[in-house]
Amino acid sequence: MADLTSNLAGISSPNPFWLASAPPTNMGSMIERAFDAGWGGAVWKTIGEPIRNVCSRLSSIDGSSTQRMIGLNNIELISDRPTEVNLREMAQCKRKYPKHALIASLMVESNREAWHDIVKRVEDTGADGVELNFGCPHGMSERGMGSAMGQVPEYAEMVTGWVKEACSLPVIVKLTPNVTSIIAPGRAAVRGGADALSLINTINSITGVDLDTLIPNSNVNGKAAHGGYCGPAVKPIALNMVSELARDEFTQVPISGIGGIKDWRDAVEFLLLGSTNVQVCTQVMHYGYRIVEDMIDGLNNYLDEKGFASVNDIVGLSVPRVTNWSDLDLNYHTVASINHDKCIQCNLCHIACEDGAHQCIPLVQIGDKRFPVVDETECVGCNLCSLVCPVPDCITMVSLEDRGAPMTWHEFTNGDALVQATTEDHGGISNGHAITSAPVGTPSEVVHGSAS
Ligand SMILES: Cc1cc2nc3c(=O)[nH]c(=O)nc-3n(C[C@H](O)[C@H](O)[C@H](O)COP(=O)(O)O)c2cc1C
Ligand code: SF4
Ligand code: SF4
Repeated sequence: MADLTSNLAGISSPNPFWLASAPPTNMGSMIERAFDAGWGGAVWKTIGEPIRNVCSRLSSIDGSSTQRMIGLNNIELISDRPTEVNLREMAQCKRKYPKHALIASLMVESNREAWHDIVKRVEDTGADGVELNFGCPHGMSERGMGSAMGQVPEYAEMVTGWVKEACSLPVIVKLTPNVTSIIAPGRAAVRGGADALSLINTINSITGVDLDTLIPNSNVNGKAAHGGYCGPAVKPIALNMVSELARDEFTQVPISGIGGIKDWRDAVEFLLLGSTNVQVCTQVMHYGYRIVEDMIDGLNNYLDEKGFASVNDIVGLSVPRVTNWSDLDLNYHTVASINHDKCIQCNLCHIACEDGAHQCIPLVQIGDKRFPVVDETECVGCNLCSLVCPVPDCITMVSLEDRGAPMTWHEFTNGDALVQATTEDHGGISNGHAITSAPVGTPSEVVHGSAS
C-alpha cells in the first residue's frame, strides 16, 4: 500500500482528503464523525462576525439518475454560531484528533486589529492552520468581505499581510473563481505571504426560475439573490484554475484543490494538475462522510497499480502537459472510427456530425441495416460523434500515421517554408480541402478550410 500521508505547507494529515469549509464542518461533533469515517483533515465552517441566514438557501441542477445533484447553489453565509463556541469545540476536536489536520476558516471586517484578534484566538485552540475566506460570493461580499477581497488583488495582498504579521500558523488563502483571471489574485496572495492557496470557492449563479410563480431559485419569500455554484458541474473550471496557478512561476506555493470532487478519480486529477491535497463539500452533502472510504481505497489502488510509493509522487505530474493553444501540434490528426458490431443504429452520431460538425457520417445500407460510416477524408477529428454515442467504445478516435512532423502555430506563422512543408506532408490535402492554393497569411483557412 502506498503512503497517503500528505503535507500542505507544514500541515500534515493521514491522507490528502479534507472536508471543505461548509455545512459538513459546522461543528466539532460533525468533524469528529468525519475524522472517524476517514477524512484526513477539515476546514471549519468559516467563523467571523455574527450573521443571520435566510431561508431557503439551496437550489440545484439535476443530473442523471446516478447523481441527481450535479450542481449546487447556495446563499448561506458564514457560521451562524458564536465564535467562542466554535473556537472551544475546535480546541476539543484538535485535542482528540492530534494527527488530523484542523483548519480554521476565517472572515472578519477589513481592519488589521480584527484580523490580528481572530488569528490569535485561533492559535490558542491548537488548530493547524488558518484559511482566509476571500471567496464567498454572496451576502458577505456585499459587506466588503469574502470575494470582495479575492477580486481585488491589492486587498488580498494587504489582508494576507495583516494575517501573516500576527499568525505563527500556516496561512492558506482561499480564492474566488469569480474573476477574469485567477493569476492576479493568486500572485497577490503569495506576495502577501500566503503559505498555500486553496481554490475554488463557489461561482456566481442562479440555477433557474419557477415557471409558475416566476420566482428564481432559491425563493426567499418571493425574491431571490444570486448564489454560489459548486458540485460536480464546476470541476472543469476548478481544474483549469488550479493548473493555471500550478504553471505560474509567481504562485509556486502548495495548492489545496477544491471544486466538484466526487470520487477518487476526480481527486487524482486535481493532484496531477498541481494540488497537494483536495477538499470536498457538495459530494459529502449529497452522500455523507462515508464516501471517503472509496476515495481512500481508490487512490491506494491507483497508486499501487501505477507503481507510485507515495501520493506526493503524483502531485503536478500532468502540469507540464498543459500548454498554451499556440504550442499545440497543428499536424496531429485523428479521425472517428465506428465499430459496427457495437452500433445500435441510433443515428445520434450522424445527426450530430450533420448539424454540429462536418457532415461526414453518412448512413450507408449494409446488408439489411443502415449504418453510420465515417468519411475519413472529411473528418476533422473534432470528437463530437464519440461524445454523443451512447454505446461505450463504439466510436473511437484513431490517430493518423501520415500526419507530418509536429508543428505549432508559432512555427506555422513563421514563414512560407513551413506552410509549404504542411502542403507536402498532406499531399496537398488537409481534411479534404486543398491547401496548396491557400494564400500565406490566412493560416486559419489553411489549417481547417473553415472558420474556427
Ligand atoms: C452550503 C454551502 C456553504 C458553504 N460555506 C462556505 C464557507 O462558510 N466558507 C467557505 O470558505 N466556503 C464555503 N462553501 C464553499 C465550499 O467550501 C467549496 O469551496 C465549494 O462548495 C466547492 O467545492 P464542492 O464542489 O466540493 O462543493 C460553501 C458551500 C456550500 C455548498
Ligand atoms: S469526429 Fe467530428 S467531424 Fe469527424 S465524424 Fe465525428 S463529428 Fe464528424
Ligand atoms: S451514435 Fe453510436 S450507436 Fe448510435 S448510430 Fe452512431 S455509432 Fe451507432
